Amino acid sequence: MLKGVIFNAVEEALIGVYGEDTWDIIVENSGVSGAYTALGDYEEADAGALVAAAAALLGESVDDTWRLVGRHLLPQLTKRLTNITAQFSSAEELLRAVNDIIHSEVELLYPDSVPPMFEFSETDNGLLVRYVSARGLSALVEGLIMGCGDLYSEEIEMEQVDGSSPTDAQFIVKFLSVPS
Ligand code: HEM
Repeated sequence: MLKGVIFNAVEEALIGVYGEDTWDIIVENSGVSGAYTALGDYEEADAGALVAAAAALLGESVDDTWRLVGRHLLPQLTKRLTNITAQFSSAEELLRAVNDIIHSEVELLYPDSVPPMFEFSETDNGLLVRYVSARGLSALVEGLIMGCGDLYSEEIEMEQVDGSSPTDAQFIVKFLSVPS
């Protein structure tokens, strides 16, 4: 299951990019209800169906659509925890706080939620980010990380490490500051 708040943010993200009319078609084509309350729990498959319908409608791959959703989802999520996210001043700070600060707060707000697990370690090539979740949304993670960069106008380069799988993925992330 996945919290309704995520579905709400996915809806806002897709409406922001493609508009209300396209969202309505995506909901219709995916065969899901399209009505989600923030505190409710909904099938992960419904999120997959929405993203697959959006991909088919727009002629994109499913993974690219997850990436796009993630990138636009991140600012929608931070809006829901402004008191927490205001304390960070860079993409890396925000990203590295995802387990211990952000999703810990999420678990207080939504006691039955099950956020994914992230691990971080420094390497000579950049920050190694490991994502572990039975939900297997590694393309969403890629988009969310790019969204962290957008939030602070930082350019981010990332590549998936060989041997990654959707449920246990590793990325090397480089944070390249953009001159202001
Ligand atoms: C900044 C504010 C954020 C909020 C309010 C937030 C909130 C949430 C919530 C409510 C869930 C659903 C958990 C459930 O239904 O059991 C979730 C899932 C998720 N979050 Fe966050 N999150 C935030 C930031 C991030 C960041 C920075 C990342 C990583 C880059 C991230 C990665 C994910 C992923 C990948 C999932 C999908 C579930 C899974 O893969 O198992 N989140 N988040």
